[in-house]
Amino acid sequence: MDVSVRVKEIPYSATRVLGPYAEKAKKDGKKIYHLNIGAPDTSVPEEFFKAIANIDSHVLPYAPSKGREDLRNEISNYYKEKNIDINPDEIVITNGASEALIFAFTTITDQGDNILTSNPFYSNYYTGFRQCAIGARAFDTFVDNGYRLPSYEKIVENIDDRTKAILLSNPSNPTGVVYTEEEVRLIAQIAIDYDLYIIADEVYREFAFDNHDFFSFGEIEEIQDRLILVDSISKRFGACGARIGSVSTKNKEVYKELVKLATSRLAVSTVDQIGAAALYRVNDKYFNDVKEQFQERRDTILKELAKIDGIKVYKPEGAFYVMPELPVDDAEEFAKWLLTDFSIDNETVMIAPGNGFYYNNEIGKKHARIAYVVNVDEIPKTINLLKVALEEYNKKN
Ligand SMILES: Cc1ncc(COP(=O)(O)O)c(C=O)c1O
Repeated sequence: MDVSVRVKEIPYSATRVLGPYAEKAKKDGKKIYHLNIGAPDTSVPEEFFKAIANIDSHVLPYAPSKGREDLRNEISNYYKEKNIDINPDEIVITNGASEALIFAFTTITDQGDNILTSNPFYSNYYTGFRQCAIGARAFDTFVDNGYRLPSYEKIVENIDDRTKAILLSNPSNPTGVVYTEEEVRLIAQIAIDYDLYIIADEVYREFAFDNHDFFSFGEIEEIQDRLILVDSISKRFGACGARIGSVSTKNKEVYKELVKLATSRLAVSTVDQIGAAALYRVNDKYFNDVKEQFQERRDTILKELAKIDGIKVYKPEGAFYVMPELPVDDAEEFAKWLLTDFSIDNETVMIAPGNGFYYNNEIGKKHARIAYVVNVDEIPKTINLLKVALEEYNKKN
């Protein structure tokens, strides 16, 4: 007996590829500062726990497959406040944005089709593509100009007759770029010209710094029939463990199939949906405080990274990531070495090598994704570890 070729072809998630080395380092007593995983360390608003504590039923039924009505109502209201016209009956609640993405891919592609995205991209997009037996196409973006979108021509040269959609994370994981209205409209125009769906992954919507006006694909009227909007409470409310996301569309045929997929896995956790509905009632002060915290971390990490000789870095405007080019030939080897051979006072740092965020391109080999999800006071020490490590590593090589 063998396992499928399809499953063998799915790569390990880029953020976890060094896991076994980290485990060994921890067993050996090393303290590791995790800059490799984008799980926010902020507290989930009290509303979530209060709502769950107030559940007075002792039966726990399945929720409706497309999600509880109260949660869909809250999300619809939230969208409307953001100038996005999505009704409760255009939303399906999912097990995180992760399931929303798989539902979207399954609904609009057949085996052998492909989806166009940016290089670099959120690495689980590719694992999702391979689960659905579809391919990737990717247009390159570069550290030198802060990963801005390339021209119309450079993007469309990657489209072929099996391309079904453009998928974009905005604000971006892994680069932290926040696309401007002009860039969002460029993608929208391409989708119209080439008759493609747009899968807009806007899970970091609230994390746009410097008073940057976030512009959603949901605000463009002309693309509403081709837009599939993916969302989540994982980052917005720091509630990764609740596993609540959503997939929304005004396209009735697509919606019908999304609901069918939702039915096939019965439901999403009733308890977590009750908590999530309460989260959508928190006021904007929560977001402003969290955003301020992350912006301060972004500023601190940039100041510290600038002290590293030979690094290429830029100013990310959102999410909680930065993807610099490191002064090494192979960032994965370096990241491994950080765990196996390096420490100061028995402490080291873990980063996500860039190559796992690229499709068919070597440009990520020197890059690393750094997630600033550690306390702001720890950032100088953590980046200093990286700085000293780079000096030692380059001396050795
Ligand atoms: C861009 C992006 N999309 C989707 C997800 C998945 O989020 P969820 O926890 O809602 O499944 C993540 C998680 O890191 C992400 O960064």
